[in-house]
Amino acid sequence: MKIALLTSGGDAPGMNSAVRAVVCSALHLDFEVVGVLRGYEGLIDWETIPLDMDAVRNINNSGGTVLYTSRSDRFLKEENRKKAAENLRSAGIDALVAIGGDGTLRGASLFIQEGINVICIPGTIDRDVACTEYTLGFDTAANTAMRAIDSIRDSSVSHGRCSVVEVMGRKRGYIALWAGMASSADAILIPETFDGNYDAVIDEIKKRHENGRNSYLVVVAEGVADAPALAGMIREKTGIESRVSVLGYIQRGGQPSAKDRMYGSLMGAFAVELLKQGKKNRIVAIKNDFLIDYDIDEALTISNNELDAFQYQLSLMLSQ
Ligand code: F6P
Repeated sequence: MKIALLTSGGDAPGMNSAVRAVVCSALHLDFEVVGVLRGYEGLIDWETIPLDMDAVRNINNSGGTVLYTSRSDRFLKEENRKKAAENLRSAGIDALVAIGGDGTLRGASLFIQEGINVICIPGTIDRDVACTEYTLGFDTAANTAMRAIDSIRDSSVSHGRCSVVEVMGRKRGYIALWAGMASSADAILIPETFDGNYDAVIDEIKKRHENGRNSYLVVVAEGVADAPALAGMIREKTGIESRVSVLGYIQRGGQPSAKDRMYGSLMGAFAVELLKQGKKNRIVAIKNDFLIDYDIDEALTISNNELDAFQYQLSLMLSQ
């Protein structure tokens, strides 16, 4: 069997572990692996590299993706997907393994219509692929955000300020909730629950200020609010000196945590196992800490905008 392997969408720590595990597991079965560079873009332009053991030897501990990545608008056009499918057929490829988030999964769903067998591995710091309880990169990103917020707190306490920290997550609030709870934020605003009532947040800060508190930490998910505007409102309505920090891309980079290396390895090997079993058009997922797989189109019908209620209630209680 000959496999093509790519990473697509936002890079995520742990993607390299998945790449390594796909290559090692495939070679172990005498399968061949071709690396496609820059995600679906490289599939259209046929930019590839051979992947052998030497190519993946020292990548398990590195952030980013050695295969590079992109968000490909061109892949949304049918003619480009046909070209990509033709490239794979001409190279004698039997299956494509695509590592990425929601956009990658949607791209895969379109691509299987060209008769290509695609196996997806969920990799995104946002944890926003609904069919799986875990996506590669989340743990590292949450830890990176937590450490950054810890540092911001030191300065905030020293100056007696309010710090508003914006974290990534697209339309989901997992990074905000985890990093916010772990760094004992005073308020955590996430898209799943925030009702747009900024006054309530500001009134609470005011109340605490009147009771003698001198510093505050508000963690805001990027999908919920304009952090600089919120810092401005807090300053204006409470008189407390407020500063904003947008953490940005530091959350996507850095050495993957043990969890991301481990899950990357497991998911990568499982993807090859699915191919060995002759399965087609599947996405690897985690449920109750076990590896499972779904049909790609079925996975896209699963929607999950709920947060664990206990976790959320606890975040409210702990931020008092
Ligand atoms: O999907 C990961 C992510 O980092 C999101 O949290 C963020 O909204 C987005 O990517 C940023 O994308 P780009 O790299 O295209 O700016």
